Amino acid sequence: MTDRVQLRSRTVLITGGTSGIGRELARQLLERGNTVIVTGRDAARLAETKAALPGVHTIVSDVADAAAISALHDEVVARFPALDVLINNAGIMRNLNLNQERSLEDVSREIDTNLTGPVRMVQKFLPHLKAQKESLLVNVSSGLAFIPMPISPVYCATKAAMHSFTQSLRVQLEGTSVRVIELAPPGVETPLFRGEFAEEMGSQKGMDVAVLGRHALAGIASGKLEIRPGLANVLKVMSRLAPSLVFKQLAKVKQAKPAQLP
Ligand SMILES: NC(=O)c1ccc[n+]([C@@H]2O[C@H](COP(=O)([O-])OP(=O)(O)OC[C@H]3O[C@@H](n4cnc5c(N)ncnc54)[C@H](OP(=O)(O)O)[C@@H]3O)[C@@H](O)[C@H]2O)c1
Repeated sequence: MTDRVQLRSRTVLITGGTSGIGRELARQLLERGNTVIVTGRDAARLAETKAALPGVHTIVSDVADAAAISALHDEVVARFPALDVLINNAGIMRNLNLNQERSLEDVSREIDTNLTGPVRMVQKFLPHLKAQKESLLVNVSSGLAFIPMPISPVYCATKAAMHSFTQSLRVQLEGTSVRVIELAPPGVETPLFRGEFAEEMGSQKGMDVAVLGRHALAGIASGKLEIRPGLANVLKVMSRLAPSLVFKQLAKVKQAKPAQLP
């Protein structure tokens, strides 16, 4: 089968490419013969990623920092003028108990990284992407965009917002050279999924990250605009058919122990 959307010989920028889904997408995109640049906040993790993925380019950049996004843009368009794919992947997810006392800066951290970050990335990189012949803009949301899981209240709100933002962006970019894609993963075995949720998830297995990567790239190549592998699609369908039933199930995932304050 020939690809509808070409995913070879492109220049791809992935935010948060030192771990999990971002790193796997980088690996598979390199395998397909693309130029790949990944970001992250930690220079040591970027160095480790560069050692593991020969050919990858790395840049330290915090997506929650507006000045860092401007600097990233200027560096990337200068060094990689052929940039034509942006994957807004960087994200954090916390087990967050709103009954606990918490600083105002801390309580909204997911918003800064998962929502404000991608919105600013889009704003900054859009002129460059529009100037290319055929660009792709991929926003990574979540199956939890469709029905929230209450132990991660702010995270789920950011993902629902990303779903909404992506829909509007797609309409606003109609007639331009930019194709707007949403990747809504289900639970995937990554440090984010296991980290703070090890006890809550117990023996539940998430999707293998390599499988998720293959679904994502096959979905993009076949021309899908909303890619919902595995349980993410079930959540979307159930959000229409039986939203209260599924919400009740997700609400049963309780905190094993109260999250530590930072
Ligand atoms: N795993 C799942 O079950 C799942 C399900 C649905 C959706 N997703 C979404 O998929 C995306 C990737 O998640 P993952 O599971 O792969 O997580 P992960 O393994 O924790 O990787 C997250 C990546 O983002 C980077 N990052 C975090 N904050 C950043 C910031 N402020 N600026 C730049 N980079 C930052 C991390 O590097 P540093 O910490 O070194 O900066 C790391 O490279 C997220 O948007 C997540 O919400 C994941």
